[in-house]
Amino acid sequence: MTMTVTNPINLASTLCEMPPGPCAIIIFGAAGDLTKRKLLPSLYNMRLNKLLPENFAVIGLSRAPINTDAFREDLTSSTKEYAASRFDAEHWNWFKERIYYLQGNFDDAKVYSNLGELLANVDREHGTQGNYLFYLATSEDYFETIVERASQANLHQASETQWRHFIIEKPFGRDLKSAHELNKKLLTVLKENQIYRIDHYLGKETVQNILVFRFGNGIFEPTWNHHYIDNVQITVAETVGVEARGGFYEKAGNLRDMVPNHMFQLLSFIAMEPPTCFDADVVRSKKTELINSIRPLTYEDVHTNVVRGQYGTGEIDGQPVPGYRTENRVAPDSSTETFTAMKLMIDNWRWVDVPFYLRTGKRLPKRTTEIAIKFKSPPSCLFRNTTVSNLVENYLIMHIQPHEGISLEFGAKIPGPLLQVGPVQMDFDYQDYFGPSPSTGYETLIYDCMVGDQTLFQRDDNVEAGWHVVQPILEVWQSEKPKDFPNYPAGTWGPLAANKLINRDGRDWKI
Ligand code: BG6
Repeated sequence: MTMTVTNPINLASTLCEMPPGPCAIIIFGAAGDLTKRKLLPSLYNMRLNKLLPENFAVIGLSRAPINTDAFREDLTSSTKEYAASRFDAEHWNWFKERIYYLQGNFDDAKVYSNLGELLANVDREHGTQGNYLFYLATSEDYFETIVERASQANLHQASETQWRHFIIEKPFGRDLKSAHELNKKLLTVLKENQIYRIDHYLGKETVQNILVFRFGNGIFEPTWNHHYIDNVQITVAETVGVEARGGFYEKAGNLRDMVPNHMFQLLSFIAMEPPTCFDADVVRSKKTELINSIRPLTYEDVHTNVVRGQYGTGEIDGQPVPGYRTENRVAPDSSTETFTAMKLMIDNWRWVDVPFYLRTGKRLPKRTTEIAIKFKSPPSCLFRNTTVSNLVENYLIMHIQPHEGISLEFGAKIPGPLLQVGPVQMDFDYQDYFGPSPSTGYETLIYDCMVGDQTLFQRDDNVEAGWHVVQPILEVWQSEKPKDFPNYPAGTWGPLAANKLINRDGRDWKI
């Protein structure tokens, strides 16, 4: 992650001064959606922004029985559809000539010797110099196999002059034990500095900006603690249902899909202690320290402080939508949750007695990700003998998506002879200020992997710390089937219990 606080407007030009060196990217699972919708459009965007080396190639590998020509054609149409920027034929032709396809099963050793030969050719043809980024865009069932087979073919071996990095997609494990075992297996073959566990939330500009906002400014951090902050609310709301992923979702559920990864990234950045420098390991140690400071949930806490929900039929944007149990590849009596809310406490000096309320779900009324930080009221009301009976609540809101910006809500005197206070808002809008910067959100992460910067990737302990926090929830939910599913209509803010969770503390959800 290249952070340039002095010249934030032209990030692309800043990065250009340090373009990645020659390399090839090998995408496992190249026929899948992620490749078409995100990875290729990102690489193409990087080319447009001069963030790819001239000596570059892409090799797609999957079981689909197609050849390089068909793969190139397929990617031409998908990139036209999904690239965030304009389609430029000249750049695309440069790109297209560097795309190759290899068909095979991920567990077939022969595929890896073929891959070795193809890479040697690509190195000769495109000058990629033996630097390889392996992107595992496959189901998690293949992570171990691919790394193992790649190592048997000696494709993983880095040297003084050549790097070999592996991006591992989520989900990384399905509980603490499986994540730990996967880490152990990967680390028998690879070094930690070769493993890039990706969480696409860390590719979002607004998420990265949380650190700049907190640690690149002098005015906020002094108030960033229990003396001034009353509570923090993190909401990741989606209007979509499970789309075509019923099969995956039935096994994962909302908690696994969103909380120990995306939600905890937001939580770590908002609540972690300042790192002493912007070194990848220093930052990542601070994140683990924060997640490890979350007060462990007892089974009793899971009952009182964690809420699960599943959507039934309802309406989104005025249109009727089906309930979860009638979605494709979902069991008609499914007890999989599509909504999670929880209250967490952080046991450190900074956050003593400050509740963190987290809420995420599918088929909620609007798509929004935001973090609302509520400040405490002044110690006493100065305006007691006036018409001002209630002071306005002070919120700092970080809008992560789709609206990208930061707003501050406070009270101001309403003009006129009477002393009246009304809520006003100060807004910073990314788009207004910096202009549009079309991206898929994967560009920075791929770039960082190419230059060997792991700051925005999860270290083994980061991942395990997250699973450790949610493990009691997984256990309670596994042993006690929900009796009230579906318990929220699509298009509403989740089950009533999610409101009770916060109302019983005398608070409300901000949205
Ligand atoms: C993915 C989850 O990791 O994140 C999806 O598997 C979810 O279920 C998605 O929809 C949300 O990402 P974003 O960037 O749209 O908020």
